[in-house]
Amino acid sequence: MSTAGQVIKCKAAVAWGRGEPLSIEDVEVAPPKAHEVRVKIVATGVCHTDWEYLYETGKGMKFRPFPLVLGHEGAGIVESVGPGVTKFSPGDKVIPLFLPQCGECDRCRSPKTNHCRKNWDNTQMGVLADGTSRISCKNQQIYQFLGVSSFSQYTVVPDTSLTKIRSDAPLEKVCLLGCGVSTGYGAAVNTGKVEKDSLCAVFGLGAVGLAAVMGCRVAGAKRIIGVDINPDKFDKAKVLGATECVNPRDHNKPIQEVIVAMTHGGVDYALECVGSPDIMSAALESTADAWGTCIIAGWTETAAMKVMVEKILMGRTLKGTYFGGWKSVQDVPKLVDDYMNNRLELDEFITHSLPLDQINVAFDLLKSGKSIRTAESIEATFIRGRNKILHTTLAYFFYIDRIFLLLTL
Ligand SMILES: NC(=O)c1ccc[n+]([C@@H]2O[C@H](COP(=O)([O-])OP(=O)(O)OC[C@H]3O[C@@H](n4cnc5c(N)ncnc54)[C@H](O)[C@@H]3O)[C@@H](O)[C@H]2O)c1
Ligand SMILES: [Zn+2]
Ligand SMILES: [Zn+2]
Repeated sequence: MSTAGQVIKCKAAVAWGRGEPLSIEDVEVAPPKAHEVRVKIVATGVCHTDWEYLYETGKGMKFRPFPLVLGHEGAGIVESVGPGVTKFSPGDKVIPLFLPQCGECDRCRSPKTNHCRKNWDNTQMGVLADGTSRISCKNQQIYQFLGVSSFSQYTVVPDTSLTKIRSDAPLEKVCLLGCGVSTGYGAAVNTGKVEKDSLCAVFGLGAVGLAAVMGCRVAGAKRIIGVDINPDKFDKAKVLGATECVNPRDHNKPIQEVIVAMTHGGVDYALECVGSPDIMSAALESTADAWGTCIIAGWTETAAMKVMVEKILMGRTLKGTYFGGWKSVQDVPKLVDDYMNNRLELDEFITHSLPLDQINVAFDLLKSGKSIRTAESIEATFIRGRNKILHTTLAYFFYIDRIFLLLTL
C-alpha cells in the first residue's frame, strides 16, 4: 500500500543535545514538499564527522542546532516525490548527498569546483529550502544533519541533493560513496591529481585516508606511505595500496622529518585525512619543497593551521578538498559503476555491520579505532500513519569474519 502523501512513523537515532549519546526514538517524517524526495534509508555508514558534530560542536566544529538526526553517508530507495520532481520515481535506488549539484549555479557551471551552494545556508543549519525540517519527534522539530539525516529509517532531501544509482547496486556497500570513500579517493585523483610514479604520504588511515591510499594506487603512485598512530590500520592500508606504513610514535623526531628522510627530500603529494591542524602542518612540510602538493581532507571548522611562510616560498602548494572534488549528482553513479566493475574497492572498508539501535556502539568502535566503517542497517520497524503497524521487518546484519547473519522478524 502506498504511503505517499502521508506522515510516516519510523525509528531514528536522535541527538537531543551536544555530547549526549544518541537515543532511538519514534519519529514522524512528513511527506516531501516541492522539489523534495522522501527516501527509505536502507544502510548508512558512520562517519567521523557525525561523531564530531555530536561531541565536538563548539570545539573543532561550529555550533549546529539540536535536536538533530545525524548521518550523511546513506543509501536507500525513493518512497515518494514532491511536486515538481522530475528525475526520481518511487522505487529508484538513490544516494542522498550532503553536497548538492543543482546544475544551474555559477559553481555548478564551473569545472573548477564541485561546491554547489543550492540550499547551502539552510542545510548547514539543519533545515530544507523552506526553513523547516521534515522530521519531528514528540511534537518537536528535529533538525536534519547537512540536510540528509541518514540515521533515520526515512528522510526527506532536496531533489538536487540526491542521485539515482543503478538498480543492482548493493545499498549496504555503496552507501560509503555518500561521503568517506568518495572524499578520500577524490582527494587523490581529483584534487591532488596524483601522478604516475609519484611519491605519496597519507596521514590518517580511517575510511577517508584508506580511500586516499586507494586513489594514489589507482593513479599509479610508486610509493604510498601510510601514517597513523594506530598500527592496527596498517594491514588494511597495505591491502588498499600502501607500500609502507609509519607510526609517528615510533620516532623521536617530527614525522615530517621522518618522511623527508625516507624519501630523500619529501613526497610529491601528502594527504591529511585526520582533521588536526598540527598534522596538516606536518603533511605540508613532508612534501618536496620545490613542487610538493599537500591536500587537506581532514575537517576542522574552528582551528587555524600554522604555515611557516618559508615552507611554501620554494613552490609547495596547499589545497583543500570537499567531497573529493566530485560533482556529486553526476559523479557518484559513476563511482557506483566503478565499484560494480571491480575498479574501486568498498568491501574492504566495512569491518562491522550493526542494526540502528547499536548506533552508539558504532560510534565507540569508530573512536576506539577498532572499526574503519560500521554500516548501520536501517531497515527495521516500519510503522505508518496513526500508530497502525502495517509491516514490521527487522534486519540485523553482522559481517564478522565474513559471517553474514540475517534475522527477519
Ligand atoms: N573534506 C571532506 O569533504 C570530508 C569528508 C568526510 C570526512 N572528512 C574528515 O576527514 C577526517 C577523517 O575522517 P574518517 O572518517 O576517515 O575518520 P577516522 O576517525 O576513521 O580516521 C582518522 C584516523 O586518523 C588517525 N590519527 C589520529 N591522530 C593521528 C595522528 N596524530 N597522526 C596520524 N594519524 C592519526 C586515527 O588513528 C584514525 O585511523 C575527519 O576529520 C573527517 O571529519 C572530510
Ligand atoms: Zn562524512
Ligand atoms: Zn549548483
